[in-house]
Amino acid sequence: MTADNTSEPDLTTTAGRIADHRRKYQEAVGDRDAAAAAKQHPRGKMTARERITALLDPGSFVEFDKYVKHRTQGFGMEHSRPFGDAVVTGAGTIHGRQVVVYAQDFTTFGGSLGEVAGEKIVKAMEFALKTGAPILGILDSGGARIQEGVVALSNYAKIFRLNTMCSGVIPQISLVMGPSAGGAVYSPALTDFVIMVDQTSHMFVTGPDVIKTVTGEEVGFEELGGALTHNKTSGVSHYLASDELDALDYARALISFLPDNNLAELPVYDSDTALEITAGDRRLNTLIPDSPNQPYDMKVVIEAILDGGDFLEVQPLFAPNMLIGFGRVEGRTVGIIANQPNQMAGTLNIDASEKAARFVRFCDAFSIPILTLVDVPGYLPGTDQEFQGVIRRGAKLLYAYAEATVPLVTIITRKAYGGAYIVMGSKQMGADFNIAWPTAEIAVMGGAGAVNILYRKELAAAAAAGEDVEALRAELTAKYTADVTSPFLAAERGELDNVLEPAGSRLAVIKALRGLRGKRTEQPAKKHGNIPL
Ligand code: HXC
Repeated sequence: MTADNTSEPDLTTTAGRIADHRRKYQEAVGDRDAAAAAKQHPRGKMTARERITALLDPGSFVEFDKYVKHRTQGFGMEHSRPFGDAVVTGAGTIHGRQVVVYAQDFTTFGGSLGEVAGEKIVKAMEFALKTGAPILGILDSGGARIQEGVVALSNYAKIFRLNTMCSGVIPQISLVMGPSAGGAVYSPALTDFVIMVDQTSHMFVTGPDVIKTVTGEEVGFEELGGALTHNKTSGVSHYLASDELDALDYARALISFLPDNNLAELPVYDSDTALEITAGDRRLNTLIPDSPNQPYDMKVVIEAILDGGDFLEVQPLFAPNMLIGFGRVEGRTVGIIANQPNQMAGTLNIDASEKAARFVRFCDAFSIPILTLVDVPGYLPGTDQEFQGVIRRGAKLLYAYAEATVPLVTIITRKAYGGAYIVMGSKQMGADFNIAWPTAEIAVMGGAGAVNILYRKELAAAAAAGEDVEALRAELTAKYTADVTSPFLAAERGELDNVLEPAGSRLAVIKALRGLRGKRTEQPAKKHGNIPL
């Protein structure tokens, strides 16, 4: 700074130019941050730069376009041209690996996206694409800048197009930390993971006022588009953060599992994996209840197999009958897909199918091996599911597994019935290594259903003769289950590669994934497939 802050620096001298730079830097960064903090902190929100600082490794941030200014005329905009406009962009590192980041600044024109804010985001995305680095967007914005019109809209279009181009090439993570309204919601929707903060983030295509005017329906911001709604009901969001730091921590944790891009190797962490069966492994031998109708927690199996029992669950609140998330085996990332028998008995429904399908495709795009754990009694029956398109939407999971070329390892712990058996990473869907526990039951349908169809006449005759029908039904069901659903029948036909004790699962997964590291498969050349949408 110049000694006297109020005097104009002499731009004909080096000292004057440096002083001028310092003054502009202070205006662009220091003064802006102080003003932003005064507005954001009372709302329980951090400023754009504070968020970036908390997200990245200390001191790693390199800012882009700090001094750009908008060119808008009218509405008094020409008198307010803050440096950097309404978004902070740049690159830095997370766990020492490069990422690109942008953070909208709600305190400048409501974080709205006009021409230059759009150009900054586009430039950051292009930088991420050409350097093969993940991009993280922190959204806090009133949407398209109302004063600017079509240039604002066209920049959204560029962002959506780039989101699509980046899809499957670099990981894209959106952190919604304020409003995300109107068409602007579609940028996060096009990214791989959406993180929302409880109470302070809202996403909606049309807000409460418009809804009331058009349909008469009355709904508040939180119920319509709050973090809980999008994590539990709509499935738009993948993590409900308790506060902003929790959201940023989750993003950092996600990055630790992901490769930089679709051509990069997966990150490998040190691991002290035991290569013999441990006491923890043996506990799995007592997990499955004797009664097939009694639930248990599939997370116990997941945690027993993963390094350190560390499972980063994705979308835990949406379709909880299906578990998805990341962990490591021997220090290397695996994606987990698992039925959860303690939620809706682990049945497959539309939400569970779509949740798992998108995750399979993410893992496949980024060469992350998939471990599938199966305990599924079948698809959820009912008109609700049929009318909502369980045929079309359930087909997504089949499509996703069928086109996946990453290593696929499947363990059937208990039930694997009908179409649900097929879709959950069965051998003929392309899985590489299929294992079942001795407790597995594999058949077209469960024993009770099968007996009702196969022995309808016998059961009716027993009822007419006044015999104990339920005892007969139970006897026939037990015989069918023993004769037809045994995993050894599937193993006999090579549909299973092995039947093993639950305690051997962790070591079996380690060996299978080691064996599959060199997996190469060819798919027929095509422009792209036509997944049922
Ligand atoms: C310009 C905007 C703005 C916008 C907010 N501001 N949104 N300026 N363009 N889109 C300004 C406000 O004028 C205000 O400026 C400051 O940001 C803070 O806004 P407030 O309304 O005071 O904040 P709050 O009460 O927290 O309400 C936040 C909000 C509300 C819910 C986001 O501002 C709002 O409804 N904004 C409009 C949202 C919207 O309809 N956007 C267009 C969506 S359509 P001052 O100077 O008073 O501080 C869209 C199309 C995208 O985005 C198309 C993609 C295909």
